[in-house]
Amino acid sequence: MTNRPIMPSSPAESAASLYPCGRPLKQWPTPMRLVVLGATGSIGQQTLDLVAKHPDRLQVAALSCHSRVSEVAAQVAALKKLQPEVPLPLVAVTDSSAHKRAAVDPLLRDLLLPEGPAGLVTAVSDAPDAHCLVNGLVGAAGLQPTLAGAARGMRIALANKESLVVGGDLVTRAVVAGGAELLPVDSEHSAIAQCLSGRQESEISRLILTASGGPFRETPAAKLAEVSLAEVLNHPTWDMGPKITVDSATLMNKGLEVIEAHHLFGVSYDRIEVVVHPGSFVHSLVEFVDGALLAQLGTPDMRVPLQYAISGEKHWPLASGRLDLVKTGMLRFEEPDLVRFPCLGLAMAAGRQGGTAPIVLNAANEVAVAALLAHRIRYADIPRVIEDCLTAMPAGPVTDLDTALAVDLQARTEADGRIDRLSAAAG
Ligand SMILES: NC(=O)c1ccc[n+]([C@@H]2O[C@H](COP(=O)([O-])OP(=O)(O)OC[C@H]3O[C@@H](n4cnc5c(N)ncnc54)[C@H](OP(=O)(O)O)[C@@H]3O)[C@@H](O)[C@H]2O)c1
Repeated sequence: MTNRPIMPSSPAESAASLYPCGRPLKQWPTPMRLVVLGATGSIGQQTLDLVAKHPDRLQVAALSCHSRVSEVAAQVAALKKLQPEVPLPLVAVTDSSAHKRAAVDPLLRDLLLPEGPAGLVTAVSDAPDAHCLVNGLVGAAGLQPTLAGAARGMRIALANKESLVVGGDLVTRAVVAGGAELLPVDSEHSAIAQCLSGRQESEISRLILTASGGPFRETPAAKLAEVSLAEVLNHPTWDMGPKITVDSATLMNKGLEVIEAHHLFGVSYDRIEVVVHPGSFVHSLVEFVDGALLAQLGTPDMRVPLQYAISGEKHWPLASGRLDLVKTGMLRFEEPDLVRFPCLGLAMAAGRQGGTAPIVLNAANEVAVAALLAHRIRYADIPRVIEDCLTAMPAGPVTDLDTALAVDLQARTEADGRIDRLSAAAG
């Protein structure tokens, strides 16, 4: 990682980006109808909060949860009260036993889609008059619904970065083929999108992603082996779901975001840099070829980038916190420490390697994070599991979705085996 400005190295690299900077997005009807996948999660709940704030602009055509049936039922009831004239949304419940519970719920039973991943794809493909997919699913489970949204030519407000990590080329090709729109929800990528607005690709020197540094930014290497799960989950600035909170503590989240930025903006890895910014109010930056830097700043409120994506890059009114520049004081940036946080380096290397490497990285990480949350392994074991899986499964090409899904499954089995051995050794 370097602070040296990196210029486009070849004409191919300067080729037009997939990202629709400078070109008009489609005109969608108002109200815009949303498919909200992962509705019961942090991103999903904040999306429904935006619907409540803008009932004249937004409606919900379908919702999903994995197992929290009573929460999704409460969301349907709240929408019925908010917009009594709007038909109730279809509901996908992926977990099998939760689906059985939903099938006997008086409000949900007539709205219910098939269980498992098929329900998610049906929600995206079949929800009546749906315009925009908000993908707030966690993990590689988000990939197929993203592809379904692309095939339907939808606006895709993408929080599920794993879609691009696992299926980057598949997704970008499907977006172009389907005439869809891919708009980032991650605050860093939203910041970059705002800085890129109206610019030509030839003007861009590099993208600079900021990272809070997580709860262990100042923790000495020797102490990282001992940190507790409660400390891992204690993020200094953002309140998010458990998986991304763990990823933020290992800096894997930033690594996944580098891969996401590469696919989203069509920029090579040499021109994407990460800096630690403990204040978390500079959401990210773009450096231009004349050395000018543009940044987007704000308080940590995910509803702002969510609404920017859903609206098609508009600043709708929102009573979010306002950044007090005088109170924020100094701008502080640091180099990320790849020795204490090996997951960032592993992700950047896997991204550069391409092919199946990011799929293996992501699957091993998902399995390791779940094992940490289940108290089966320790924080410091996460990069070991991922590195072992990357070594055991050399990268190959990804030709289609089936290859991606098969590699994902194989890497999960590989990671499971390593975790079994680690937890057996730990007694
Ligand atoms: N939270 C943030 O502030 C934030 C910021 C930037 C990016 N993101 C990204 O947004 C995505 C969602 O993050 P989150 O923090 O909102 O996660 P979360 O709070 O854990 O919510 C995840 C959602 O997905 C559902 N889900 C879980 N496992 C599933 C599976 N196997 N199949 C189908 N659905 C499943 C959950 O249902 P149940 O509730 O029923 O379990 C829940 O609705 C992630 O990719 C994350 O990196 C999040």
